[in-house]
Amino acid sequence: MDAIEAILSRRSIRKYSNKPIPDSLVKELLNVGMSAPSAGNEQPWHFIVINDSQILKKIPSFHPHSQMLKEASVAITVCFDTELETHKGMGFQDCSAATENILIAIHAKGLGGVWLGIYPRKKRIDGMRKLLNIPKHVIPFSLISIGYPAEKKPRENRYTDLKIHYNQW
Ligand SMILES: Cc1cc2nc3c(=O)[nH]c(=O)nc-3n(C[C@H](O)[C@H](O)[C@H](O)COP(=O)(O)O)c2cc1C
Repeated sequence: MDAIEAILSRRSIRKYSNKPIPDSLVKELLNVGMSAPSAGNEQPWHFIVINDSQILKKIPSFHPHSQMLKEASVAITVCFDTELETHKGMGFQDCSAATENILIAIHAKGLGGVWLGIYPRKKRIDGMRKLLNIPKHVIPFSLISIGYPAEKKPRENRYTDLKIHYNQW
């Protein structure tokens, strides 16, 4: 699958089979995440792989839109290490780019995934911090739920000329 096709056909997948995901594939996803662009190449991210279903099942107690984690094989938490940020205010954007890279790779590899927002919701940040023992200077930014898909979704065409401006608004 080429990059454009992967981007245009990606959808959020929230139902999974119980087939396990090989560690080598998870590592490939992490490599893709770390290949994202970042401000001044600061790469302020850390990734916490959660492959313990007992831990995954605890997340819906503080994250209201994360029920799919009860079925997920693995999840990746993208974290922002504020001590690595050299270009003030850019770190969250870097983590966003890493998250999207991983989501596209998930789809390209025949897996299914969904981006779960953590930052800036305090209850979710505190919940993740406590559950995963994340230090104070590191902010859990997003959580990506991953599994082999047990649902199919059609591509959506979101293109509209109404959102495009040339040279001026
Ligand atoms: C910042 C962000 C936070 C999101 N948080 C959640 C979430 O907590 N739970 C969830 O099920 N989906 C979440 N999503 C997925 C969106 O609901 C989804 O991307 C959107 O409805 C478009 O559908 P698509 O991904 O299938 O194209 C989030 C997406 C983004 C970008």
